[in-house]
Amino acid sequence: MLSENIYILGIESSCDDTAASVIHNGKILSNVVANQSIHEAYGGVVPELASRAHQQNIVPVVHQALAKANITKDQLHAIAFTRGPGLMGSLLVGTSFAKSLALGLNIPLIDVNHMQAHILAHFIDEEGFKKPPFPFLAMTISGGHTQIVKVNSYFNMEVIGETIDDAVGEAYDKSGKILGLGYPAGPEIDKRAQLGNPKAFSFTKPKVDGLNFSFSGLKTAILYFIQKETKANPNFISERLNDICASIQYTIIGILIDKLKKASKQTGIKHIAIGGGVSANSGIRKALKDGEHKFGWTTYVPKFEFTTDNAAMIAIVGYLKYLEQDFSDSNISASARLKL
Ligand code: KG4
Ligand code: ZN
Repeated sequence: MLSENIYILGIESSCDDTAASVIHNGKILSNVVANQSIHEAYGGVVPELASRAHQQNIVPVVHQALAKANITKDQLHAIAFTRGPGLMGSLLVGTSFAKSLALGLNIPLIDVNHMQAHILAHFIDEEGFKKPPFPFLAMTISGGHTQIVKVNSYFNMEVIGETIDDAVGEAYDKSGKILGLGYPAGPEIDKRAQLGNPKAFSFTKPKVDGLNFSFSGLKTAILYFIQKETKANPNFISERLNDICASIQYTIIGILIDKLKKASKQTGIKHIAIGGGVSANSGIRKALKDGEHKFGWTTYVPKFEFTTDNAAMIAIVGYLKYLEQDFSDSNISASARLKL
């Protein structure tokens, strides 16, 4: 018989955020994230530096998560951790830590797929946020992923479309690099896009079959466009930055919405959820809202702190798996290319 009061610690370390969270039944009690600013200087995540920073951050982050939840480690029922996908060195830190802690406390260990967690973050109990009914479509958009997933139940998901090269967040960040913006560039492009003309310049959308995405061609098109224009006018970027950002954003949102429309038509599913850092984007949020009127969609966007990389999403999957008594073997290992 399961007790009514289940406390689970979630640990996330797949990329450049070290995070820990405590969940009590379906409600998050703490959600601590230590970001690694060291990567800004390099214009992208440096794997070796990420693992070192995780190593330094993990103990204080876990302590803080327990303290904020106002519980001690002895009250925990299980430890959930990100097994993959992600950077191997980063995953190893979280995996080893979770294993040792579970072993030391003599409680179950629960491995979590990071992509599944982005989707199941929609099931965290949070006032003002509704949970999608099954089946629904989930689009995960971030610096590391771009997928459309048909979610049949908590643990039955099918990837029906994904990027064949760059992730959408990478398209933002690489475009930003070409324009001389800081890293990550997504938020600034979004801000400027709202001040510019989305139709000022046009970029060809990639032709990719089915529900898959491709963003590497767009990045090259932007590079050539900027090279050509700055040759004619060295001040082109500074004079037209808002229009350039608006046009890039218009193209990217168009690509995402086209595929979502196609996926919805193909599956007959009108409940659409998004997750990942790019779901903060004003353009995608507006386009989804428009989809409610235009296509009869019901759309779901989780609370922002549960949508970028975080451990609350790992903790909710831990809780759902705990209810099923679905535990991991202690010789489980991290898996950089773990599939859904
Ligand atoms: O989920 P996340 O925090 O980390 C992972 O990549 O897994 O996502 C970060 C990505 C970056 O590429 C960043 O540029 C992008 O999300 N991003 C945005 C916005 N806010 C963050 N992209 C477009 N518009 C935004 N408002
Ligand atoms: Zn992620």
